[in-house]
Amino acid sequence: MLLPKTAACTENVNGELYIDGLAVTGIAKEYGTPLYLYSANRIRENYRRMHSAFRRLRKKFRLNFAVKANSNLTTLSILRTEGSGADCSSPAEIMLAKTAGFEGEQIIYSGNYSSDRELEYGFKSGAIVNLDDGPLLERLLRFGRPDVVSFRVNPGVGRGKYKGLVTAGPEAKFGMVEEDAVRAYGFAKKSGIGRFGLHMMSGSNVLDPEYFPAITDRLMAIAGRISRELGIEFDFIDIGGGFGVPYQEEEDELPVEEVAEMVVGRFEDGIASAGTMGDPQLFIEPGRYIVCDAGFLLATVTHVKKGERNFIGCDAGMNTLLRPALYGAYHEILPANRMNDAREMTASVTGQICENTDMMGKDRKMPELEPGDLLAFMDCGAYGYSMASNYNSRPLPAEVFIIDGKTYLARESETVPDFLKRQTVPPVVRKGAE
Ligand SMILES: Cc1ncc(COP(=O)(O)O)c(C=O)c1O
Repeated sequence: MLLPKTAACTENVNGELYIDGLAVTGIAKEYGTPLYLYSANRIRENYRRMHSAFRRLRKKFRLNFAVKANSNLTTLSILRTEGSGADCSSPAEIMLAKTAGFEGEQIIYSGNYSSDRELEYGFKSGAIVNLDDGPLLERLLRFGRPDVVSFRVNPGVGRGKYKGLVTAGPEAKFGMVEEDAVRAYGFAKKSGIGRFGLHMMSGSNVLDPEYFPAITDRLMAIAGRISRELGIEFDFIDIGGGFGVPYQEEEDELPVEEVAEMVVGRFEDGIASAGTMGDPQLFIEPGRYIVCDAGFLLATVTHVKKGERNFIGCDAGMNTLLRPALYGAYHEILPANRMNDAREMTASVTGQICENTDMMGKDRKMPELEPGDLLAFMDCGAYGYSMASNYNSRPLPAEVFIIDGKTYLARESETVPDFLKRQTVPPVVRKGAE
């Protein structure tokens, strides 16, 4: 069987799937399943490709990895050593980023609907605080005056591979429309804040290269208006993430060098035509592009049900990888120990969760699989483990990295005693049950 065009760092060696030169069957035997497996080399390659595409064109450039995509400390440490910044969405993500060695303004904190405690934490952490609404600044100022403040704008349009991935436009809960943004910066300036950033994040998993310059234009027009009307210069302007990856055979890779050329061109045109906004750094905050194809989910087939419709059940489900249930997202699924077997059965691949949305792949062509066979879900490095849950009281899986041909356990799997540890039945209830 041929490997899908989208598969990075994989080989088919006599019918067995290898990742970075190692047989996945051996890794599954050693660490058990379900298991998240990552190629450290691929994470580095993805970072370097994207970073150099922009950096060669604009020195004042920074890539802030979106921690929400994959918050494993090993991933964060790899990216910190590459020179990345960190884009965090919660206090816990800031703590993780700091634990991995990110400091102060290397971190940008973009919360939404933040509580006072979260605002206080963000401010005191020394991160750049990026506010999702103007009045949040008044609340933040109760804890002190930040050196720099940034606001998230809704540029009026957004795009995403699935509806749930569109994060700007009329239905989005994020950011502020232009008029509100002008007011917010006006208030920030009056409050004595001296340094400013501007941010948008308009959608995720976009493969159309033309989208990125178009949305950059939109943001630069807003930046131009703010800088002209209020006499504000920007330290940085952040065009967000959203850079797509091909999950399916018919999709093409995003040509990042071309995208970078168009984006930097429009960014610099925007600066020149406003003439008032200084010489801001260009920030981007990709998550998926950096880690998606570096991650794999290994699962063992638990039962095959044959009938009018066939089902291949395995030990990974919507609790382990939520994207198919959440968005109807497609992930390629490979029969990792039977790569050369003819794919003669049509079956849906499912997990063990008591929901009919627990469908990891519908009507896929598969070999005649049996309990004990191994499946590899592709492109699981982004929003895989980080969206996993304990639903149906299923423990979270382990995470293993391949680094220079060796495997390392980076996070142990949970165990049932882990659930019990944090629970106490109030004595009054226990007594009543006696
Ligand atoms: C504020 C923000 N920045 C960056 C990202 C990363 O997006 P992507 O993984 O599509 O690059 C997200 C994802 O939802 C986000 O909400």
